[in-house]
Amino acid sequence: MSIHSIPHESAIKHVSGQSVYVDDIQMNNLLLTGRVVYSKNAHALIKSIDISAAKALSGVHAVLLASDIPGHNQLGPVVHDEPCLAEDKVLCIGQAFALIAAESEEIAREAEKRIVIEYEPLEPILDLRTAIEKGTMLDKPRIMQRGDADAALKTAPHVMSGELETGAQEHWYLETHTCLCVPGEQKEINVFSSTQHPSETQAIVAEVLGIGKHEVVVEIRRMGGAFGGKETQANHTAAWTALLCHATKRPVKIRLFRDDDQIMSGKRHPYLFKYEVGFDAEGKILALKVEQHANAGCATDLSMAILERAMLHADNSYYIPNMLVKGMAYRTNVPSNTAFRGFGGPQGMAAMESIIDRISRFLKKDAIDVRKLNFYGIDKNNVTHYGQEVENNRLFVMHDQLMESSEYRKRREAVNEFNSKNEFYKKGLAFTPVKFGIAFTTTFLNQGSALVHVYTDGTILVYHGGSEMGQGLNTKIQQIAAAEFGVSLHRVKVSPTNTSKVANSSATAASAGTDLNGMAVKNAIDKIKGRLAEIAASIFSKQFPDKPTSKENIIFENDFVIDRVYQERRMNFEEVIPVAYMSQVNLSANGFYKTPNIGWDKAKGWGRPFNYYSFGMAVSEVLVDTLTGYYKNLRTDLLHDVGESINPGIDIGQVEGGYVQGVGWCTTEEIKWDASGKMLNHSPDTYKIPSVQDIPADFRTHLLQGYPNPYAIRKSKAVAEPPLMLAFSTWLAIKDAISSIGNHAIEPMFKLPATHELILLSIEDIKEKIKKNQQAIFPNA
Ligand code: MTE
Ligand code: HPA
Ligand code: MOS
Repeated sequence: MSIHSIPHESAIKHVSGQSVYVDDIQMNNLLLTGRVVYSKNAHALIKSIDISAAKALSGVHAVLLASDIPGHNQLGPVVHDEPCLAEDKVLCIGQAFALIAAESEEIAREAEKRIVIEYEPLEPILDLRTAIEKGTMLDKPRIMQRGDADAALKTAPHVMSGELETGAQEHWYLETHTCLCVPGEQKEINVFSSTQHPSETQAIVAEVLGIGKHEVVVEIRRMGGAFGGKETQANHTAAWTALLCHATKRPVKIRLFRDDDQIMSGKRHPYLFKYEVGFDAEGKILALKVEQHANAGCATDLSMAILERAMLHADNSYYIPNMLVKGMAYRTNVPSNTAFRGFGGPQGMAAMESIIDRISRFLKKDAIDVRKLNFYGIDKNNVTHYGQEVENNRLFVMHDQLMESSEYRKRREAVNEFNSKNEFYKKGLAFTPVKFGIAFTTTFLNQGSALVHVYTDGTILVYHGGSEMGQGLNTKIQQIAAAEFGVSLHRVKVSPTNTSKVANSSATAASAGTDLNGMAVKNAIDKIKGRLAEIAASIFSKQFPDKPTSKENIIFENDFVIDRVYQERRMNFEEVIPVAYMSQVNLSANGFYKTPNIGWDKAKGWGRPFNYYSFGMAVSEVLVDTLTGYYKNLRTDLLHDVGESINPGIDIGQVEGGYVQGVGWCTTEEIKWDASGKMLNHSPDTYKIPSVQDIPADFRTHLLQGYPNPYAIRKSKAVAEPPLMLAFSTWLAIKDAISSIGNHAIEPMFKLPATHELILLSIEDIKEKIKKNQQAIFPNA
């Protein structure tokens, strides 16, 4: 009934321009424009700031510095190492040091020009290798291990070592960071913030203003995309707006311009991996040692949790008996890097995929076979390097299905044939799997709350702690509520997320939005249904005194409340509600859920951090023009496991969208900084997110059928983040095409992203090696 492919609840509103985002909220003419003034220096002492001329400008209502903050000058979500406004030092270009509230954008900009700041420049650390050299570690290294990697490396038939660099990625949500604050009575403040984490936004606003959380209401109806970029960093814009609102006692809105947003906000963490892998003649991996080095940027933010997830995904889908993962995050003078779809998982997995790709080339085997050989087993070899069993392993069934539906073998031959006949165009083909752990690795965050009201007309209003960012959470929650109440969808409305209705929520993140909030909503509904069942049972028993019934017999189906034993006894849902109300029954309930059976010893790096695993697989084929480095994505086949889908249409959208976002990270999206730490590409004309040209010409997406998930709401599975990693198929198909130039005997130089420039350089490198008549070189093999 309600569990099927209904359109996203905002689809029509989006395409007809009726969706209300923060910037669309109607305000009176007291509204002021807020502007954030940020550092143009990557690392410097602040000698002086003169705001007098800015303040004197007519139409300016406030110019604030760190010293004007009534509460704590602090934004750090975990570690308090991030000032709201820089005080005596700036640590990156883009760091805020002053705020302006003015009657118009023009006046605010003019005021900004009149602010004079004097710096004493310090030497910045701008890249990861320098940070490693200087040892700017945020925290002590973290270790996860199983077996004895050193010993196993000594006895392995083949040993190979290497490095992989993965790049930054800009979130490129369509709606930039935006917040509107409206003052209430006395200390009260209403905050409309485009945030993934309203409860934390509330906490940070309370902290900078020096007031209690009970004075702060944060509301978000929807975001125009977030992708992790609004998990912590939406708090910044909210805090800045709140400070201006507090100072002027007027409504204030800050909406960052695209370029400012790109310059000021953190990205996906760039990583450098160094590894040593031992394997046998078949390609079975016997030992792996991998060091993960993360560029954290200028503050801690979520870097340590992201590093942890990168370490937890260093295995991807493969059983490695002896494994040692060491993780380190370093401070640099770029904006603090932050959550981005996959939360470190993609980085950790990219290294593993690159390793297995190299092993296959070295052994002259098709990589698909080496991958399958190393898959986690069903009954044995099924425990990860951190001690969690890989239950309900879908790797083999999905592999077999995708091999067949993609006609992998046939196409491998066709690709070889094509490459043997074409000198300048080369094709590449690759298969890659995804295994991704679902749950916050910070265990206590795995909780959700909800508040459900049934009104006397039989309509239902649902509040939950999650936030809608385009992923379809509110659509799924509406479907879940309707299905649990056994009523039609039109009866249920999901309200904007509001911290005064549902308190102390976790971020909508870790792909767990539906899992946590869906269960919490179900819990609330179960309470109300229990009360209604009692009422219905007593009505039915009064109607038929010779056949009394009890609340256990009452079911909710097709908009009816029904006695399961005597099915002719039924009442319309909307008829039962007024009777319940007249009988003084509470028609509201709150719900709560915490994920059971998870727990994890961070210090030991051992336990069961995840509720379950999500699986996916992809086969991609590309065409590379070896003269220009241009490539075309010819065909991609995706197969993804979402358990019993609550909404297949939305899930396919997430799978395809995740893959395409991953293709961006893996190919065209490259951020460049100059020697002073200035970002060179902070707008869409120079920063290349995927366009329609990057969508595979032949794009086939399927959801795995017939495998319900016992561990989540209505046997569904999280979908959000894991599909991003399906893009490794495209990344490695490009490498496969490059590799064909050297007849797959020369290991191409490769990185992530594989930009046109890198592709061309890699091709030239192979041609150079061929010219020098070198044999395949595997220095450590
Ligand atoms: N899909 C859209 N359209 N927009 C987004 O911002 N964010 C992704 C993913 N899918 C995002 C998205 C990220 S990073 C996460 S963690 C999840 O959605 C969060 O939502 P969920 O847990 O409800 O799936
Ligand atoms: N994923 C996303 N966000 C998080 C996590 C996680 O595992 N842990 C803390 N914040
Ligand atoms: Mo998603 S990176 O967990 O917000």
